[in-house]
Formats: sequence, structure tokens, C-alpha cells
Amino acid sequence: MSKIRKAVFPVAGLGTRFLPATKAMPKEMLTVVDRPLIQHVVDEAHEAGIEHFVFVTGRNKAVIEDHFDKQFELEATLRDRGKTTALAELEKDLPAAGQTSFTRQQEPLGLGHAVWCARELVGNEPFALILPDMLMRSTPGCLKQMVEARDAIGGGNFVAVEEVDPANVGSYGIVGVGRDHGPAFEITRMVEKPAPADAPSNLMISGRYILEPEIFDILDNQERGAGNEIQVTDAMIKLMRDRPFYGFRFGGETYDCGSKVGFLSANVAFALDRPEIEPEFREILKGLLAR
Ligand code: G1P
Repeated sequence: MSKIRKAVFPVAGLGTRFLPATKAMPKEMLTVVDRPLIQHVVDEAHEAGIEHFVFVTGRNKAVIEDHFDKQFELEATLRDRGKTTALAELEKDLPAAGQTSFTRQQEPLGLGHAVWCARELVGNEPFALILPDMLMRSTPGCLKQMVEARDAIGGGNFVAVEEVDPANVGSYGIVGVGRDHGPAFEITRMVEKPAPADAPSNLMISGRYILEPEIFDILDNQERGAGNEIQVTDAMIKLMRDRPFYGFRFGGETYDCGSKVGFLSANVAFALDRPEIEPEFREILKGLLAR
């Protein structure tokens, strides 16, 4: 069973729900405390043993590439000023030279299309797919837990799932639950954005995947699905005919940072995790809530 070495990050979305913040700045650069969203998910991938980070970007996203490069002037200034902690922090976060790749989606044709754009960069090996909007909080991170589940089961395709309010199933990919395999369960069905009556459960696909490379052959067909978009869920449904698919119930917290409330909640939760911020911030929050 080959190791999961590569992760794909679809970052071409326009971020229309965050205008005007995202007019000139990619939504993935919005910060949760002091780290851009994209840095949080790259950290998660790094912790899971990922060695190559593939970004599927679009126009106006060049600053993401800059973020994962050295900032020569900044580093020189920090060095001159003896700011060694800040310097070390920057160094720690930086993938090594050659560990990042960037390609462009060109047109917003759906998540499946974004994944397909990474086919040459991923090649013929299983890979992780991470949706940066979905920020997950747990120790260890969600992807590391999934990699461990895959190791225990001996391979296959995996999606992280979690419960949603049955009224909201129409916003997500939803899975049907089959036999238990220890750390994960067999998926019997998947439906993208079902009407509540057609949903096989209330377990939604939450934004972390481990996929086998055959998914790219299916995506080659460029078939349109829900919302007239090329859906990765539809390609997974086809792949599931020949290959095992498992659902991994993620036990941590997930913040949908594509929504304002999710994003703001993530900032509060992650700020309260930081010992240097927590005491003062908690007091201020208490005051605000008492208003
Ligand atoms: C995508 C997937 C969906 C998944 C969701 C998680 O939908 O197609 O299966 O549940 O992400 O956020 P999107 O949010 O891009 O519409």
C-alpha cells in the first residue's frame, strides 16, 4: 500500500460570500487568529505526512504562492532586529523548495474539475484532497487520523464525515452507512446535495478525502452534475463501483469558514486555544456577551 504523499488544495473559488474582503484578496488568505486559512490546512496536511502540496488556483490568487515562498526583505529585517522567534516561526511554516506546485483551474466548472486539473501533478498515486474552507480543530488533525485509519484498514478511498442537521443535507454530499471496519465504516451510497427525503443519512462529506488516482480517469469525462458543475462526489460514486469507500467519523470540531458565522466562530475557538491570548480575550468575550 503506497503512502499518501501528496495533497490537493482547491483554492480557485471567488469567495463571493466575503465581499468586499475578498475583492482583491483570496478568501484562503483570510486569517484565523494570525494564520491564513490556507496555512492552517497546510499545517494539517504536513502533520499527516504530506510531502507535496498541490494548489489549484485561479486568477487573483498569486499571493498564495507568495505566502509559501521566502520573503527575503522581511527575513533580513527580522534578522537585523534580532526577532529570532518570528523568524523561526516563518521558517517552520515554509514547505521546502520543490514541495509545492501550482496550477490554474481557468474556469469555475466545479470541485471535480478543480481536482481533475491536478491530475498531472498528482500522477498515479493515492492522494489527499483538502477543502480549505472547512477548518478542522482536533489533536491530531483530521487528515492524520484518516491516514491512520487507512493504514489500519489497508488502503481504499476515505472521506471524513460528520453529522448535520437533517434540514441542511441539501448543502452537502451525504453518505449511506454500511458495515463497520473499526476506525471507519463502509459507504453504501453517496448523493451530492440531496433533498432531505432522498438523503441516505445525515452524515455529510466534510472536506477531507483520500482518493485513489483512478478518480482522474472518471473525471476525464467532464460530466456535469448538481448545479451544472463537475462534481467530485459523482466521480466518487462511479469509482465506488470497483473500489472500496470508507467514511471516517471525525470527532473534532469543523468550522465552515466559507460562511461568516463559521469563520467568526473559528476565530474565537482558535484564539481561545492560544495561551498568550486566551485570558484577556475570554474576559472581553464575557463582557461582549453580557451586553
Ligand atoms: C463540496 C462537496 C460536498 C461537500 C462540501 C463540504 O460542496 O461537493 O460534497 O459536502 O464541499 O463543504 P461545495 O461546498 O463546494 O458546494
